Amino acid sequence: MNKVVAFVQGASRGIGLHFAKDLAKKPNAFVIASCRDPDNAVNLQALSNQVNNVDLLRIDVTNEDDIKHAAVYIKEKYNSKLDLLINIAGMLSPSGRGETSLREVSVQALEETFKVNTFGPLLVAKHFGQFLQNGNGGFGAKSESEKLKHSGVLVNMSAKVGSIGDNSLGGWYSYRLSKAALNMVTKNLSIELGRGRKKVICVSLHPGSVDTDLSRPYLKSIPTERLFSPEYSVSCLMNVIDNLNVHDTGKFFSWDGSELPY
Ligand SMILES: NC(=O)c1ccc[n+]([C@@H]2O[C@H](COP(=O)([O-])OP(=O)(O)OC[C@H]3O[C@@H](n4cnc5c(N)ncnc54)[C@H](OP(=O)(O)O)[C@@H]3O)[C@@H](O)[C@H]2O)c1
Repeated sequence: MNKVVAFVQGASRGIGLHFAKDLAKKPNAFVIASCRDPDNAVNLQALSNQVNNVDLLRIDVTNEDDIKHAAVYIKEKYNSKLDLLINIAGMLSPSGRGETSLREVSVQALEETFKVNTFGPLLVAKHFGQFLQNGNGGFGAKSESEKLKHSGVLVNMSAKVGSIGDNSLGGWYSYRLSKAALNMVTKNLSIELGRGRKKVICVSLHPGSVDTDLSRPYLKSIPTERLFSPEYSVSCLMNVIDNLNVHDTGKFFSWDGSELPY
């Protein structure tokens, strides 16, 4: 059985933690899980102590040196090869709440949010994208002929509120802008990493409304039938990832596999 190597960036809690747990259950998977403070990521520590296929790394995505050091580690330990990279770390805003009007907009909040939500995933792609070009296409496209056409999958965890076409409510300037720009990162990566014989499939995904620390201030406004557990969201997103093929690259998909407008 071919081993597949998955890298979950932002795995300390919420959706990222559940991706690490889900991927660790795959018998043929090695999971590299990064977070900014592994010593205090108790749930992730517990996972890596329970299983023998989860490797913890320290990355604060606002620090390019952390990303560079992690890339050197993967080069040496995993032979410069990745099959799946999921950029998950994200924040709503430094205050934990989205701006409701222009009065609340500040350069400092915009900068901090962009550093985590947009520049972080871009820098991770800068240092790790080449590793996906060396992968075996262990995720996505079920048929053998489709698998041959791609070497790896890069996922940027976006949000439906980052869709310009879908925006009917306004507000949440820092978050909406940072995720809209992240979608442009996905599109650009799909072009650059889609050149050559073995292509990397690059997509943005929306996980639905998920019960995590990020969404906690807004839980009361989300109808219970539309609020997902992280486990459910991740199982839906894994299904989307497993069914991707090269023609999907550069696109933005929701948790149920439907395409979202940029
Ligand atoms: N929950 C939702 O309803 C929802 C909806 C749409 C999109 N999303 C997206 O899904 C992703 C995960 O969100 P979540 O709901 O799971 O949120 P969460 O539970 O608040 O988790 C956020 C994660 O981001 C990490 N992080 C924040 N700043 C970081 C940095 N500078 N470097 C490295 N890691 C950093 C956190 O690590 P620490 O533990 O170190 O703080 C944590 O692991 C985000 O990109 C979010 O925008 C979520």
